[in-house]
Amino acid sequence: MTLSEFQQLVTTLAADGEKLIDAATTASSLEDARTSLLGRKSGRLPELFKQLPSLAPEELREGGSLINAVKAKLEARLEDRRRQLDAASSSKRNVDLTMPARRQWQGSKHPVTLVIEEIEEIFRELGFTIALGPEAETEWYNFTSLNFPPDHPALDLHDTLYLGENVMLRTHTSPVQIRTMQKFKPPIRILSPGNAYRRDFFDASHAPMFAQIEGLAIDDGVSFVDLKATLTHFANQFFGKTKTRFRPSYFPFTEPSAEMDVECQLCHGSGCPGCKGTGWMEILGSGMVHPSVINAAGLDADRYTGWAFGMGPARIAMLRYDIPDIRILYDSDVRFLYQISR
Ligand code: DAH
Repeated sequence: MTLSEFQQLVTTLAADGEKLIDAATTASSLEDARTSLLGRKSGRLPELFKQLPSLAPEELREGGSLINAVKAKLEARLEDRRRQLDAASSSKRNVDLTMPARRQWQGSKHPVTLVIEEIEEIFRELGFTIALGPEAETEWYNFTSLNFPPDHPALDLHDTLYLGENVMLRTHTSPVQIRTMQKFKPPIRILSPGNAYRRDFFDASHAPMFAQIEGLAIDDGVSFVDLKATLTHFANQFFGKTKTRFRPSYFPFTEPSAEMDVECQLCHGSGCPGCKGTGWMEILGSGMVHPSVINAAGLDADRYTGWAFGMGPARIAMLRYDIPDIRILYDSDVRFLYQISR
C-alpha cells in the first residue's frame, strides 16, 4: 500500500469516527461507538494498524505518526462526549450543582440522658456502681420477690403490660435489686438506670414507657440515717443547696418507707402552680429494704440491712428545666431539645 492510500484510509476513519461519536446520545451508544472504533478485537483503528507493515520501510514512520494522531484525536473526542452526556443527564435529574450545602446539625444528648448522667456521677463519687437488668421480667422478679401480695392492684392487667404467661415489661427498676443481691455479696451499693413500662395513658405527666433510676445499699448495720444523709447529700449536689423533707409513705418492698421532697425549684417555697401551692416537689420514693425482700434474694435478713430508692429522671428533668408537659421530652422536636442540651 502506498502512503497516500494509507493516508486516505486514516482520514476517512477520522471523519467517520467523529460523526459516530457525535451521534451517540447515551452512555451505552457512546460505548458502542468506542468499541467499533478502538475496540481491541475488531475496532476499525486496530485493523488499520495492521496495514502499517505493508508500507515501504521509509514511509513507516510517517504512516505511524498519522495513525497515532488520529487515535489520540478520537480518544479525546470520546472523553469530551462522555462529559457532555454526563452533564446533560445530571441536569435532567434536577441536580443543581450550584446549590449551597445543607446545614450540618450537631447531635446532642437528650435532657433525660443528661439528668441520668449527672445523677450517676453524684452517686459514683459515693462508691455506687452501675447495675443493669432486663426490661422483660417474670412476675417473681417484678412483684413476688418484692413482697407484693398476690392481689395487689399493680398486678392487674390494667396496669401491667404482659408479654405472655408470667412474662411482662417491668413496671419499675426495682427487680434489679433482687438480681443484684442474688449475684453479689454485701457490701452492695448500686445505681440502676433503665426503662420501665405501665399501661398509662400518655398525658402531661405520664408516659407508657419512662426512665427510672433505682438505688440500693446493703451492708452490716445500715440504718435510716444512711438513707437520709445520702439522699439529702444527693439533693444538695443536684439542685444546689436546697431544703428537703421526708414524708412517710408506703411501698410493699420497704419498711419504713418515705418520699423525699425538695423545695419547689420554680418558686423556692412560696407556692406556685408548678407545686400546686405547696412549695414542695416530690422527687423520689425510698425506704429501708423489707427483710422479706432481702431473704427472697437469698441474703440473710438477720444479718444485713439496707435502703433503696427509686426516682424518675424525666420528672427531675421537668423540674430542672421547667418543662410543663412530659410529652415534649418524647416528641423528638430538636428545636426544643436543642435549647436544653447545650
Ligand atoms: N419502684 C417504685 C415505683 O416504681 C419506686 C421506689 C420506691 C423504688 C421506693 C424503691 C423504693 O427502691 O425504695 O414507684
